[in-house]
Amino acid sequence: MYKIIERRMIVPNLHELTVEAPAVAESVQPGNFVIIRPDPLGERIPLSVADWDREAGTVTSIFMQVGASTAKLARLKPGDSVPTYVGPLGKETVIEKVGSVLCIGGCYGIGSIYPIARALKEAGNHVVTLIEARSSFLLYWEDKLARVSDRVFVITRDGTKGKKGHVGLIPDMMERAGIAPRLVIVNGCTFQMMQVSRLTKPLGWKTIVSMNPIMIDGTGMCGVCRLSVDGKTKFACVDGPDFDGHAIDWEEFLARRKSYNPEEADPLRRSSCRSHY
Ligand SMILES: Cc1cc2nc3c(=O)[nH]c(=O)nc-3n(C[C@H](O)[C@H](O)[C@H](O)COP(=O)(O)OP(=O)(O)OC[C@H]3O[C@@H](n4cnc5c(N)ncnc54)[C@H](O)[C@@H]3O)c2cc1C
Ligand code: FES
Repeated sequence: MYKIIERRMIVPNLHELTVEAPAVAESVQPGNFVIIRPDPLGERIPLSVADWDREAGTVTSIFMQVGASTAKLARLKPGDSVPTYVGPLGKETVIEKVGSVLCIGGCYGIGSIYPIARALKEAGNHVVTLIEARSSFLLYWEDKLARVSDRVFVITRDGTKGKKGHVGLIPDMMERAGIAPRLVIVNGCTFQMMQVSRLTKPLGWKTIVSMNPIMIDGTGMCGVCRLSVDGKTKFACVDGPDFDGHAIDWEEFLARRKSYNPEEADPLRRSSCRSHY
């Protein structure tokens, strides 16, 4: 069993979860993910790592409550435990000194982009971080990101903080700031990663995205997480989750992701009936 050290809602619907898992904490790297099962009858779901403390043996993720399993996670309290916590899984993000790097985070990706930005900074890059949300009350970890970045930009859909708009503003914002990234790394919702990839392709900015398909085993056995990259079949859990955003078949990916929505609605309803928060 893996002990919950912390579980708190940091902004509406987004939770910070810290789990005691010394073996995972010992070897985890930026870009890895874990698979967690909230209770013995629950399903295994993947979560990206957002931070860790090797000495304390703890690993932190940020998760968004979207369905039955994340609703169960949202009910955990410090001192509770979960039966499954497997990791680190997936290939780590490639960290090299390339010059100027733009790290983009949205939703739970504001958390998972943090260790990537930190490692890129330690590798000697000029790190520019951009975080995006619908409104300022959905932003978090801005100070933490500022400590590992040379500059931080904010975009909110309603203009309550930073630039008003969406990721479509990025090329113009970078041009005005005199920043020409050699590499862009995006962590967040699928739509955001797709939009950024489509924007950066004509600009020739190499773009790496962290893909988030439905997963089951997370070890390359079941094939559920497959996606097409450059016309070839890849498994996000073992070949990724990082891929070249310009080479992904986004339409196919989005269609596969929606395929279990009707089935997922029922466990969510049952879970909501039991919820007490
Ligand atoms: C490698 C990887 C890393 C991930 N990291 C994180 C993370 O750090 N934080 C986090 O909150 N989520 C992360 N996800 C997504 C997370 O695993 C799903 O949100 C979770 O499995 C949903 O489970 P559920 O039972 O609560 O919702 P479900 O009932 O399974 O789904 C509810 C709704 O969420 C949508 N959904 C299902 N799976 C995903 C998915 N993979 N991504 C986005 N939407 C989905 C469904 O289409 C449905 O509309 C990651 C996924 C992968 C593959
Ligand atoms: S989750 Fe089963 S092959 Fe990737």
